[in-house]
Amino acid sequence: MDRDKTTTMVVSKIRNGTVIDHIEAGQALNVARILKISPKDKVLIAMNVFSEKYCKKDILKIEDRELKGNEVELIALISPRATINIIRDYEVVEKFEVKIPKRIRGLLRCSNPNCITNSGEPVNGSFTVVMERPLRLRCEYCERFLDEREVIEQLTGREQA
Ligand code: CTP
Ligand code: ZN
Repeated sequence: MDRDKTTTMVVSKIRNGTVIDHIEAGQALNVARILKISPKDKVLIAMNVFSEKYCKKDILKIEDRELKGNEVELIALISPRATINIIRDYEVVEKFEVKIPKRIRGLLRCSNPNCITNSGEPVNGSFTVVMERPLRLRCEYCERFLDEREVIEQLTGREQA
């Protein structure tokens, strides 16, 4: 593909924190919601910039924050090719790819109102990942499927277009 100059953008390096790179184009704002970015956080977001590997990508950089394991799992669900780079004193000291876990426990609700996990105290469900792209999960209690769109809606609190 010809490199389109309009998609080339320089984003400053950060000193300490985390760079989430190779986010699925268009998903950076959802990643920001998953991370519960607050008005005080120092964040750089680049969307639809040129990527050698996948043509277009989003990037999110957060100063002075390192991610927790469950945050990385949630990012994997919406952006399975993302890489996490830990930056200390301007250097990349650690780099890893996110990975969709085989099971997801305690982070999502079952969409079946009659599911045992929705009776009485609302408890978070337990799901098996049956497909990664497009994402498809199955409730371990009632077997109801949860698709990618519902997962993103739950994680971001927003309806997807
Ligand atoms: N980065 C940053 N601040 C730093 C160092 C790196 O924002 N002080 C960003 C880079 O801009 C890049 C990502 O962290 O988006 C990873 O940096 P690096 O490993 O140097 O880049 P690449 O080798 O291109 O990464 P990859 O092979 O994962 O695509
Ligand atoms: Zn269920």
